[in-house]
Amino acid sequence: MRIGILTGGGDVPGLNAAIRAVVKDADINHKIDVLGIHNGWKGAVEGKFFELTRQEVRGIIDRGGTILGSSRFHPFENEGATDVLLDNLQKQKIDALICIGGDGTLNAAAQVANVGIKLIGIPKTIDNDVYGTEYSIGHDTAVSVATSAIDRLHTTAESHNRVAIVEVMGRDHGWIAVNAGMAGGADFVIVPEVRLDIKDLIQRIKFRHEHHASYSIIVVAEGAQLMDGAEFTYQNFTHEPLSRSISRNILKEIELQTNYDLFLTVLGHVQRGGTPTAFDRNLASRFGYAAVEAIVRGDFGTVTTLNAEQINLTPFSDLAGKQQAVPLELIDVANALA
Ligand code: F6P
Repeated sequence: MRIGILTGGGDVPGLNAAIRAVVKDADINHKIDVLGIHNGWKGAVEGKFFELTRQEVRGIIDRGGTILGSSRFHPFENEGATDVLLDNLQKQKIDALICIGGDGTLNAAAQVANVGIKLIGIPKTIDNDVYGTEYSIGHDTAVSVATSAIDRLHTTAESHNRVAIVEVMGRDHGWIAVNAGMAGGADFVIVPEVRLDIKDLIQRIKFRHEHHASYSIIVVAEGAQLMDGAEFTYQNFTHEPLSRSISRNILKEIELQTNYDLFLTVLGHVQRGGTPTAFDRNLASRFGYAAVEAIVRGDFGTVTTLNAEQINLTPFSDLAGKQQAVPLELIDVANALA
C-alpha cells in the first residue's frame, strides 16, 4: 500500500509533527510506503512526488513550517488540473491521500474525495475556524506567540501611558484575538464575529482612563469590521483594503477623538512561525496517527477532529460550507475585564 501526503494553505507550527507521525505509524506499524507531495495541490498537479522515509522525518517534531512546502492552489479552480491530478495519483500508485489543511485545502479534498479518491483530511489553521474540531493544528502556538507579544506591549504601554493596539491574524474569526487577548489581560478585544461600534469603544476607553487606568491594550483581529451604518471619520486613510487596515483606522479614530498617545503593532506572520507548542505537537501527532489508522481501517472521506479530548473522524459532508465561530460567551468574557 502507498499513501500520499500534502500540506496546503498557510503554514502553521505543528505540520512537521503531523507528517512525522504519519510516516512513522505507516512504516513501523503497517509497513506502508509514504510519498510526500511538494507544495500542496499544486505539486500534486505538477507531479512533484518524492519518497518520505523515517530518515526524512527524523528530528522534525519541533520544527515550524512544513518540510513538504505549501501553496494556496485549488485544483477545481484551475481548468484541466483535476484530470492531471487524478492521472498523477494513478501513475504514482497512490492508494490513499492525507491532506493537511485549513478550509481551502479541506474543501478541495472533499471535492477530490467526491471523484473517487480515498482520502483523509487533517485540520490545521492558526485561525482555528475549521468546523467540527475544537482545535486545529497551529492555533495554540499562535495564541502563545500573540500572548507573549501582548505581555511585552503591556509594560511599554504602561510605562508611557499609551493606548496599544495589537493586530493579530484571523481573517474570518477572532479565535486568536480572544484567546491571546484574554490570556494577555487585554482591555478590549475586537473580532469579526461582533461588528465594531467605534463610538462605544472610544467611550469605554475614555471611561477607563478617566476612572482607573492610564493605559489600555486593544487587541484587534485583522478581519474585524465596523457595524452596519458606521463609518470611520477618515475612511481608507491607508491605501490597503479595509480588512488589512481596520486597526490603523481604529488608531486614527481614537487619535482624532481623544488626546491619548497611541501605537499600533501588527504581529503578522510572526504568529505562524517558529517552534510549535507541546499541545500542537501532540495534537498533530494524534491527528497523523489517527489518519493512518483510518486508512488502514478504510474510513475514507473523513477529517480527524478533536472533541472533549477525544480524536474522532468526522465525514467531510458534516463540515461542508461551515466554519467555527468564536462563541459570544468567550467574546463577552474577553471584553468584560477592562
Ligand atoms: O488562514 C490563516 C492565515 O494565517 C490568516 O489568518 C491570514 O489572513 C492569512 O492566513 C495570511 O495568508 P498569507 O500568508 O497567504 O498572506
